[in-house]
Amino acid sequence: CERPDGRPFRQRLLVVANRLPVSAVRRGEDSWSLEISAGGLVTALLGVKEFEARWIGWAGVNVPDEIGQKALTRALAEKRCIPVFLDEEIVHQYYNGYCNNILWPLFHYLGLPQEDRLATTRSFQSQFAAYKKANQMFADVVNTHYEEGDVVWCHDYHLMYLPECLKKHNTKMKVGWFLHTPFPSSEIHRTLPSRSELLRSVLAADLVGFHTYDYARHFVSACTRILGLEGTPEGVEDQGRLTRVAAFPIGIDSDRFIRALELPQVQEHIKELKERFAGRKVMLGVDRLDMIKGIPQKILAFEKFLEENSTWRDKVVLLQIAVPTRTDVPEYQKLTSQVHEIVGRINGRFGTLTAVPIHHLDRSLDFHALCALYAVTDVALVTSLRDGMNLVSYEFVACQDAKKGVLILSEFAGAAQSLGAGAILVNPWNITEVAASIGQALDMQAEEREKRHRHNFHHVTTHTAQEWAETFVSELNDTVVEAQLRTSK
Ligand code: ADP
Ligand code: G6P
Repeated sequence: CERPDGRPFRQRLLVVANRLPVSAVRRGEDSWSLEISAGGLVTALLGVKEFEARWIGWAGVNVPDEIGQKALTRALAEKRCIPVFLDEEIVHQYYNGYCNNILWPLFHYLGLPQEDRLATTRSFQSQFAAYKKANQMFADVVNTHYEEGDVVWCHDYHLMYLPECLKKHNTKMKVGWFLHTPFPSSEIHRTLPSRSELLRSVLAADLVGFHTYDYARHFVSACTRILGLEGTPEGVEDQGRLTRVAAFPIGIDSDRFIRALELPQVQEHIKELKERFAGRKVMLGVDRLDMIKGIPQKILAFEKFLEENSTWRDKVVLLQIAVPTRTDVPEYQKLTSQVHEIVGRINGRFGTLTAVPIHHLDRSLDFHALCALYAVTDVALVTSLRDGMNLVSYEFVACQDAKKGVLILSEFAGAAQSLGAGAILVNPWNITEVAASIGQALDMQAEEREKRHRHNFHHVTTHTAQEWAETFVSELNDTVVEAQLRTSK
């Protein structure tokens, strides 16, 4: 098996994630079109090129009929993707319910949804049962496609029960699990009724990875405090068996962004944007429309900045591009209307007949449009209330080698640990502080911008998605060999 450039692939990799890199849209009884899925997990994994990777996951659509399933399986095979078909009820209970209404907010320190806390607590058991059932469905597909020597890499909070399902079936399988969100303090994890089962299942993996050292430490503490196991510098030990736990900070395929800026269509786009916003500084937010991204807080901080700096009012514009996500979950529906309400109020307050201060788009931009937008931006605003890493901040930096714009970055994003020295770090809950940082960023002198950018650009171009995957997989291979040596002694 060869890569497109003729070199052999290193190894076969089964990447298992809830979301496939493409989402399917039905066009007819047996015809499908495929669109790239949004999100950091997909962005990072698309940058992994050295392995012969097969993706196993959900195509984001309910396909109840056999004709549709067969046609979609064929269409996905061309992209080296293998579907897991989840019916509506499972999606409701497992994906909307347990994953996105319980684990996601909890892992981001947002607690359970405010209004229906009691209802969520009541439906907990049935949703957890659906979660386990869904994880077993993923395991069944992995088992069907697994070949000896494959590495199986499970991803994210949707699939915490998967390592156990896989190892029960085949103890020899090399299984790694990586979390793309924060792992919270053990005090938070303790509140989950299924706290022990989830930890034990993750520990069935050979290697467990997190974005930062802090998240890894929280996980090990949860295992010691909740399960009473021994935490060591290498990981967690249970009756002589070690599960290796470590930090593997993710990155992006920075070359892909840098190369895209040279393309004529991107250059054309850049020219149009420069003309469109001539005479105004451009501030940019690019996020999934998710409560963890702190979008209302960001917009309120921008309002405060305009309120306090009247001379900037007609000289700056905020472009907030927010792709809708998880739209069947009530919390997300509420967020959309909240953001619309705030944007409308501020544009009414500070807009003129010819210009508004905030352009808010509820949609996904294609890759080239996104690169152009990053390139013309003066100040990027990443104000996540919590974020595993945040790759938007990396993408912005990769596209800024000409302009050397400023990154305002939440101290609660994992990226604060890697890009903190080049960014202006803020507490996104403190609107006054974020407003002041906007002023500082807009006024920053070229020399300081250059210095900050250099630091971040170096990081983003040297800590890539490819490097991240290679490090994880080679550590997984080593971990398995070491474990075999230990047991044969
Ligand atoms: P998360 O994984 O929580 O969505 P990240 O910042 O790590 O956060 O990754 C988001 C990914 O999704 C990035 O690659 C970004 O380019 C993409 N993305 C987010 N919002 C949009 C949008 N409105 N249009 C296009 N791509 C988007
Ligand atoms: C985050 C999660 C991913 C998820 C992505 C998009 O990045 O870590 O696992 O795929 O958000 O969310 P969605 O629910 O649309 O898959």
